[in-house]
Formats: sequence, structure tokens, C-alpha cells
Amino acid sequence: MIDAASLSRRVHEAREALEARLPGEGPQVGLILGSGLSAGSLPLEDAVEVPVEEIPHLPAPTVVGHRGVWTFGRLAGRRVVVAGGRVHRYEGLSLREGTLGVRLIRALGADALIVTNAAGGIRPDLTPGTLMRIRDYLNLLGDSPLVGDHDESLGARFVDLTEAYDAAWWERVRGPLGAMAVGLGEGVYAACLGPQYETPAEIDHLERIGADAVGMSTVPEVIVARQVGLAVFGMSLISNAAAGRGDGTLSHDEVVEAGRAAMAHWGEVVTHLVREAPVG
Ligand code: HPA
Repeated sequence: MIDAASLSRRVHEAREALEARLPGEGPQVGLILGSGLSAGSLPLEDAVEVPVEEIPHLPAPTVVGHRGVWTFGRLAGRRVVVAGGRVHRYEGLSLREGTLGVRLIRALGADALIVTNAAGGIRPDLTPGTLMRIRDYLNLLGDSPLVGDHDESLGARFVDLTEAYDAAWWERVRGPLGAMAVGLGEGVYAACLGPQYETPAEIDHLERIGADAVGMSTVPEVIVARQVGLAVFGMSLISNAAAGRGDGTLSHDEVVEAGRAAMAHWGEVVTHLVREAPVG
């Protein structure tokens, strides 16, 4: 694992490289995309795409459905960066390296972050195609992006997560989003290591400990976002019934396809979230 000083240096170098390449001010809002979701469904103005491989130190994704491109542009009157190409703990990188992008989004000037993912629905009303606002999470990864030596430049050593997801942001959008009739529930997201899907017994266990949906991502990004002071909005696209809760078996193709199918209303929701994001 890289040490804290190298991490800070890498974030700094990545920021300098992007600032040299992109004209104008940095983003106010960052958006991290889940499986099968892309910037293409968002009405971005003045979009500039930067492949992840061209951003120094940013790890490139290895998973189908995660396109490694950062798109800078304007949405709902705000400067945004849409970070496509999430990396997961199961890809083998340390969480410290895997969440460098979150630190970079903050270093570029953003105040707010929207994290999205595809998740399996555990609670019966969370059927495929539903969107779930993440109200809280269960970190079952057995790991944290804050593990390792510490340096004050990273933020606090002990991060408070009492309100990991910005409650005021949600209060501003819940009425209008409800009126869009896209079915936005709320719930607790459990992050499991994967990459295998869960067993039905594991899903029963997750339900008992308070999980409404299950996935393999997002939580490390939220932890780092809170450490660096980004306001966070989390949203799961329920792509399938969790193991043992639906008719058949689970496949990654199904997850990616559900993302693609949900794109139209997902774009509308994200645009509204950006409009109402708490930026300074
Ligand atoms: N389990 C874990 N991760 C997932 C699932 C699931 O059912 N669906 C999408 N990502």
C-alpha cells in the first residue's frame, strides 16, 4: 500500500495535470457512476472527456460496464465532473489507491459528490428498476480506505459518519423527485467484498442486520468523501432481486443491462440532484 505522503503527492500531480489540460474553473459537483451507467444519458453542456489512463495515478477499471472516462461539463447550471470507471476492492487494489479519484474530485474544487451504484434488492418493495436513496450503509468489506499511516493532509484520522449522507440535500429533493414518479425509495446499503454474488443465507443475514440492498462498492468512496469534507448523496439502482429473492440466478450481464434500461429516468433524477447540490 502506498504511504500517506505518496497519496497526497499523487492527488496533487493528478490535479495539476487536469488543470493544465482543462480550461476554466474546476467542478462544483462530482458524480461517480455505477455499473452500466454512463454520462451519455445526461444533458451535459460543453462536455470534455478525459480517459482515465491519461490522468496520472488514477487506477483504471477492469470490469465490464465501467468505462474509464472522466467527463467535465455543465449540468443544471453547475460545473460537474462525471467520473466513470469505478474500481472495486475485489479488483485487488488497496482502498487507499482505489479512492484516489474522490480526493482528486475534492482537490479540483468540488463541494458535493453523488455516488451511484447497481445493487441487489433485499427489501421486497425494492424491485428491479427502482431507485433507492442511500440513507445509511453497512461496511462489510472488512477494510477501510483510511487504513495505513496517517498524514493531516488527508483529513481527520477518525472520521465521524453519524450523517454520512447529507440529510439537508435529501430534504430539498425528496418532494420534487417523488413528483417525478420514478419510485425513489430510501434504504440501507450493505457493501460486501464480492466479486461473487451472495448466497441466499447471506441475504437472510443481511436482512436481519438491517440491509435493504446489497452491492460491492460505494462505501469506501463515501468514507473518503466525508474525510475530505464533501457533502454526499448516494443512490442505488436496483438491478436485480438479491440472491434467493427472485425467480432465477444472478448475472453481471443482467446488472449492466438494468443500468442501461434505467438510464432515461436516472438522468432526470441526477440532473435534479446536481441542481440542488450544496455548493459554496
Ligand atoms: N449483490 C451484490 N452486488 C450487486 C448485486 C447483488 O445482488 N446487484 C448488483 N450489484
